[in-house]
Amino acid sequence: MHARRLRKIGGNGGSAPLLPAIRAASGFGPYEMVHANAMDWLDSAPRHSLHAVVTDPPYGLLEYRPAELEKRRNGKGGVWRIPPSFDGHRRSPLPRFTVLSASDRVGLREFFLRLAERLFPVLVPGAHVFIATNPLVSHLVYEPFVAAGFEKRGEIIRVVHTLRGGDRPKNAHAEFAEVSVMPKSCWEPWGLFRKPCEGRVQDNLRKWKTGGLRRISSEEPFKDLLHAAPARGVERRIAPHPSLKPQSLMRQLVRAALPLGEGVILDPFMGSGSTIAAASALGLRSIGIECNVEYYRLACKAVPRLAELVVKEHNSQDK
Ligand SMILES: C[S@@+](CC[C@H](N)C(=O)[O-])C[C@H]1O[C@@H](n2cnc3c(N)ncnc32)[C@H](O)[C@@H]1O
Repeated sequence: MHARRLRKIGGNGGSAPLLPAIRAASGFGPYEMVHANAMDWLDSAPRHSLHAVVTDPPYGLLEYRPAELEKRRNGKGGVWRIPPSFDGHRRSPLPRFTVLSASDRVGLREFFLRLAERLFPVLVPGAHVFIATNPLVSHLVYEPFVAAGFEKRGEIIRVVHTLRGGDRPKNAHAEFAEVSVMPKSCWEPWGLFRKPCEGRVQDNLRKWKTGGLRRISSEEPFKDLLHAAPARGVERRIAPHPSLKPQSLMRQLVRAALPLGEGVILDPFMGSGSTIAAASALGLRSIGIECNVEYYRLACKAVPRLAELVVKEHNSQDK
């Protein structure tokens, strides 16, 4: 068993020293995990050094700030709220995007513009970006990516019961028993963007190994409708991050992101490392960035364990 690490291609933004990333066992993809602010790290990453981005970024910008995480721990106030319990199980808190003010929304758009502008030179031509969002704020992500020069290539729709929406008017449930303030959300959009190719897709594939999406098989293309239930049970125990994405979803996305299975995938907001684990499980190379030291340490422990899980991967598109 040999630890295999990628060459480090960026600084850690002047934050705490790196903890060692670990990977072992043949068949798993090598990865690098960096404790850093993603924007700082991207500023020092070399041009044309990455081949795809698969990420679930912070939304609301404030939900991962120390004060909001403290309110979440105390179960009181702030952007996190506990969804109603309807089946005897206590639900985990979710960020409440409806509390975003006009200036939060301006800040959100600026954040995604800064991100897109930094990603653009670091990615090779033809590189795809898969970015998780939600129906309330997706426009604040998509428009800045296009403004930064990316092509919008569609949206991946993940069918999932999110526990958002569907509630009756607050404090007037009985009076308006037949009314929901918003639809109950049953899907999660992932924006799909591409840095323009150099010439034809076939030329770009030869030169940069990017430009298309990896098929499920020679008969079956990757499709934009996926079914993936929230991460539960063993995954949550290994990686108790409030926004943990399931391996069943992440493995489908990282696989599609590298059309020839070559190159490096970046997750600039890796949290507990579900993207990195998915890439490693499939033998793909990846780099994860996380600015919160607790989550960074969690990822260092969780990634090898998540990568080893046996998960139903490529057949959940046709349920
Ligand atoms: C939505 S979570 C990602 C969770 C991840 N999908 C998982 O399965 O664990 C976003 C993460 O981005 C981190 N983050 C927020 N701003 C960041 C920044 N500027 N640089 C790096 N990480 C950041 C947060 O601490 C949080 O862990």
